[in-house]
Amino acid sequence: MTPSDVKATLSFSDGSPSMELPIYRGSIGPDVIDIRKLYAQTGKFTYDPGFLSTASCNSTITYIDGDKGELLYRGYPIEQLAQHCDFLEVCHLLIYGELPNAEQRAKFVKTITYHTMVNEQMQFFLRGFRRDAHPMAVMTGLVGALSAFYHDSTDVHNAQHREIAAHRLIAKMPTLVAMAYKYGVGQPFIYPKNSLSYSANFMRMMFATPCEDYEPNEVLVRAIDRIFILHADHEQNASTSTVRLCGSSGTNPFAAIAAGVACLWGPAHGGANEACLTMLEDIQKMGGVEKIGEFVRQVKDKNSSVRLMGFGHRVYKNYDPRAKLMRETCHEVLGALGLQNDPLFKLAMALEKIALEDDYFVSRKLYPNVDYYSGIVQRAIGIPVSLFTAVFALARTVGWIAQLNEMIGDAEYKIGRPRQLFVGSTRRDVKPISLR
Ligand code: ACO
Repeated sequence: MTPSDVKATLSFSDGSPSMELPIYRGSIGPDVIDIRKLYAQTGKFTYDPGFLSTASCNSTITYIDGDKGELLYRGYPIEQLAQHCDFLEVCHLLIYGELPNAEQRAKFVKTITYHTMVNEQMQFFLRGFRRDAHPMAVMTGLVGALSAFYHDSTDVHNAQHREIAAHRLIAKMPTLVAMAYKYGVGQPFIYPKNSLSYSANFMRMMFATPCEDYEPNEVLVRAIDRIFILHADHEQNASTSTVRLCGSSGTNPFAAIAAGVACLWGPAHGGANEACLTMLEDIQKMGGVEKIGEFVRQVKDKNSSVRLMGFGHRVYKNYDPRAKLMRETCHEVLGALGLQNDPLFKLAMALEKIALEDDYFVSRKLYPNVDYYSGIVQRAIGIPVSLFTAVFALARTVGWIAQLNEMIGDAEYKIGRPRQLFVGSTRRDVKPISLR
C-alpha cells in the first residue's frame, strides 16, 4: 500500500489526546484512513453498519467508480471484456491477473474442460434433496459437499491446493447447476462434452436429453457467456465479503464458496434477478402495462415495503455499466428468438421508462441494475426463474475464488473479527425463578 503525505487527525471534544492517522492511496479511487491502531490508542471503535465508509481490504482485482458508472476487472473496462473476450479468458484474468495469450488460453481451457465432471457419488448426495427444493438450497449443499469429495484441494494455505480448487470450482459449477435443474424437472443428468465451449457445454447440459441432443445457438451461447462475464466479480459486495470472512478462518475453499452461494441467494443481492421476474409476472397478472402506475404508487408508499426489483445499487449512482450491456444482449436474444413482442419484455420496458422519468427514482439515483435485464434474457433462453440466482452463483464463483486467494496471499491477512457497540443490559444477577 502506498502511504500518502497527508495524514488525518482525530480530535475529541472531551479533551482526550488527539490521534494522527495514516492515509493510504489507491491507484484510483478514494484513499483510506488507516484506523487499525485506533482501539489500542483511544479505546474506541469505529461504527459503520452496512460498511458504508469502510474498506475491508486492499485489492488489485476489481475497481468500481459508482458515480462514473465504471467497472474494471484488473484495469480492463467491462465493455471491452464483454466485447472482445470470452468467459474463460476473463476467469484467467481474474485468477492470474492477466488476460491469457494464445498458449496460456489453450492450456487454461484444457484444464477447465478436463475438470468438468463431478464425482459420480455426487448424484446420490443430490438425490437426498426433495425434487421441489430451491436450486440455491441445492447449490449451497452441493458446493459445500465438494470439500468431502476432493481432499487434495482443501488446504487453503497451500498455493497448489488453492489453484486446483479454483480450477475445480470454475469447471464444476456449470455441471452442478445443470444437475440441480435436471433433478428438479426429473430428467436424467447430461454429462459434460469436451468438444464444446464452456458456455455451450452448460447449455447442452441444461437442455439436451438422452433422447435429443441440443444444438447450441450462437446468439444464445454468446448471451450466456456475457451474463457470466458481467457477473464474474464485483469488488467487496455482500457475497464476496462473506467468502473473505468465512475463508479468513482458514476453512477450505469449497466451504467458503458455499457461504458465498448462501449470501448471494438473498433478494437484495443475487436473488434480485429472480425477484425482478416474479415482480414482472405479478404485474402482468394484475393486468399488465395498465397497472404499472398502481404498482409504482405502491413502491413509492413508505408503508408498503414493495421495492422495484432490479433497480438501485449501493455503489452505482448514475448507471450500472453491466445493465447497459445486458440491455443490448436482451434485444439481441429476443430478436434472435422472435420474441420482441413478448408481453413480459414489453412490460419491463414500459416500467423502466416510467420509473426513469419519475422524480422518486431520479432523486434517489435509482437506475436499472444488471439484474433488471438478465432475468428477461435467461427466461427467453429457457432457464427457469428459480435457477437465475444459481446461474449468477456459477458466474460469481471465479470472483469469489480470486478474492479468497488474494486474501490468503496477503501478508496483512488476519481472521475477520468485527467489534460492536453494545447497547444491551449492563451486568445483572440471575434471580431465583420465584422472584423473576
Ligand atoms: N425500489 C424502491 N425504492 C428504493 C429501491 C428500489 N429498488 N432501492 C432503494 N430505494 C429507496 C429506499 O427506500 C431509500 O429511500 P429513502 O431515502 O426515502 O428512505 C433510498 O432509495 C436509498 O435506498 P437504500 O436501501 O438505503 O440503498 P442501499 O444502497 O442500502 O440499497 C439495494 C441498495 C439493496 C440494491 C436497493 O437499491 C434494493 O433493494 N434494490 C432492489 C433489489 C435489487 O435489485 N438488488 C440487486 C442489486 S445488484 C446485484 O446484487 C447484482
